[in-house]
Amino acid sequence: MTDHVTTHQAAEDARNEDILIWLNGRVVPKAEAVVSVYDSGFMLGDGVWEGLRLYNGHWAFLSEHIDRLFEAAKAIDLDIGLDTAGVIQALEDTRAANNMTTDAHARLMVTRGVKTRPFQHPGLSRQGPTMTIIMEHSKPSLPRPIRLATVPHIRGLPMTQDPKLNSHSKLNCILACIAAEKAGADEALMLDINGFVNTTNACNFFIVRKGAVWTSTGDYCMNGITRQKVIDVCRADGIPVFERNYSLVDTYGADEAFLTGTFGAQTPVSEIDGRQIGTGEMGDMTKHIRALYKDLVAKDAAKS
Ligand SMILES: Cc1ncc(COP(=O)(O)O)c(C=O)c1O
Repeated sequence: MTDHVTTHQAAEDARNEDILIWLNGRVVPKAEAVVSVYDSGFMLGDGVWEGLRLYNGHWAFLSEHIDRLFEAAKAIDLDIGLDTAGVIQALEDTRAANNMTTDAHARLMVTRGVKTRPFQHPGLSRQGPTMTIIMEHSKPSLPRPIRLATVPHIRGLPMTQDPKLNSHSKLNCILACIAAEKAGADEALMLDINGFVNTTNACNFFIVRKGAVWTSTGDYCMNGITRQKVIDVCRADGIPVFERNYSLVDTYGADEAFLTGTFGAQTPVSEIDGRQIGTGEMGDMTKHIRALYKDLVAKDAAKS
């Protein structure tokens, strides 16, 4: 049997059994944080969400996350019912209620709300949005670097379901992940419509070749905040960084590969489609970028 690891694996923390959840303006115990079976999110995946991480009392890159949330809500024509300050206050209220100071992860979700009838039409959601914040104690804890497998599921064109959108419905990504697991890997490496390497089912993807850092053009993948911060720290540090098309041949031959996301920052990749990448361990460039990213998070905290 294969020992699967997920990119969003955190150390077990018994305190998470007793957390309080923000739900439509109230902070309630986890067991009471329930939504209707008529909810648009449950019924249709009709909603948007953000994942945020708390480091030393500060939500990393908070304004970028809030902007992306409002942009996504606007794109799906959803009125969140709160302004920017209201959303930040909800995060703070949840944090304070849970007495969290660092190493916490928040999943903030907004759906089109409870429907009057169990059908698709958005006009059936008449009670206003459902918003919730799950905030957990969370320290990323990976026993080993990640193994990837390429899968038949691709990143689609923006006019179907724009892969940039952090939508509730993630079925394409979930099917990709299932296919990767069945192939003995942990997460899926997804190609774009032209067959270029694009992203994984839950994180953005980078390779390192001869001292340069490559990632996809940014078309067809989530506009990851960590992805952008990695590009920024590379530029600031004089590391050549390219957003470009590249193939699996370039990828298998890379010296290093890593994933990015708010949850795990930068996560090393050991293997892709059964080929070892570099030494199979976290490479020097990945370590260096992790350190630069950590500094950037600290600078961002000092700003707020
Ligand atoms: C498909 C996908 N790619 C990448 C990311 C990483 O984005 P970020 O760095 O903003 O967390 C996410 C996280 O929401 C995601 O769902």
